[in-house]
Amino acid sequence: MEIKKVGVIGCGLMGHGIVQIAAQGGFDVVAFEADAGALEKGLGRIDRSLSKLSSRNVEKGKMTEDQAKDWVGTTRGRIEGSTDKAALADCDLVIEAIVENLDIKKSLFAELGGIVKDSAIFASNTSSFPIKEMADASGRPSQFVGLHFFNPVQLMRLVEVVRTDDTDPAAFEAAKNFGTACGKQAVACKDTPGFVVNRLLVPYMVQAIQMLDRGDATKEDIDAAMQFGCGYPMGPLTLTDYVGLDTTLSILEGWVDRYPNEPAFSIPESLRTKVAEGKLGRKTGEGYYAWEGDKKQ
Ligand code: CAA
Ligand code: NAD
Repeated sequence: MEIKKVGVIGCGLMGHGIVQIAAQGGFDVVAFEADAGALEKGLGRIDRSLSKLSSRNVEKGKMTEDQAKDWVGTTRGRIEGSTDKAALADCDLVIEAIVENLDIKKSLFAELGGIVKDSAIFASNTSSFPIKEMADASGRPSQFVGLHFFNPVQLMRLVEVVRTDDTDPAAFEAAKNFGTACGKQAVACKDTPGFVVNRLLVPYMVQAIQMLDRGDATKEDIDAAMQFGCGYPMGPLTLTDYVGLDTTLSILEGWVDRYPNEPAFSIPESLRTKVAEGKLGRKTGEGYYAWEGDKKQ
């Protein structure tokens, strides 16, 4: 199962990063969005990120100006944007990174099963849903894995590779090798809620939000406590803004619904309220903090 051409569906916060690291890893990439405006926005983010990374490489003396220019041009040249699903037909691997909604993901995979060549591997970047349900919907459960990247994809060095009981070991290996070729440390996990990272991380974020909701400490102090007491790069409330309050809520709603007796899964009141108010975190300029572009105010 040789992977040369990769399709990525959804070019949002995660999808644009996956497109970029796949191109950096030498793969030809089709970046698909249903909407031309969203596609343009995603490709714009890639351009800005490549420009940042190349400037940093020049500053650190890792590349000359000319090499940096060539690197950006070659990487960008591997990416083709499309709003037509037919452009995915000859991809060897198709990774889904759309909104965290299981019904929408399942119907997307059911449709892709009839469009993309039979030998292709399908992967979902879901944060929380069972891979098996999407694998069954796709009609090719043996060629289906979870490929869970982390935000920001360009900088976070992990990918979780998730197998179901039906995943063909050759498809699993091919997906894992793809992650490694993109410069990531790949870890294997079974199809369990949250895989490794989110099973630990999301309940921690919930505890921090509940602490804030109870008035135990300010958001600044909760964040400073974890940053300076535990050496985390950002505190849990900044991280919730960074991940997106809508995505965090969707993860928790799915889990609470499926596992009502698991005490680690619960939904803080302020999370529901803020999402209802459209305060989704960094991407909308307000969540637990106010944001100006990428920077917290
Ligand atoms: N592309 C290129 N460069 C980028 C970038 C991007 N997308 N994002 C940030 N950078 C650059 C910045 O420009 C900056 O460059 P300079 O030093 O040259 O100015 C550099 O990276 C560092 O960024 P910042 O100064 O903004 O801030 P920082 O030092 O705190 O680093 C961080 C940012 C790497 C994100 C760090 O704060 C961090 O590791 N945070 C934790 C992130 C985390 O936990 N992610 C996992 C979320 S959970 C998840 O993803 C799973 C899920 O399913 C929900
Ligand atoms: P996002 O809202 O930033 O991006 C989703 C993108 O998908 C949008 O650009 C939207 O236009 C597009 N989209 C929605 N429906 C589509 C469809 N039917 N066809 C094509 N495009 C469609 O969300 P995100 O944060 O990038 O999350 C994407 C996925 O990655 C989710 O499953 C999420 O749980 C997972 N994830 C998120 C994070 C995170 O920190 N935000 C980390 C790891 C995994």
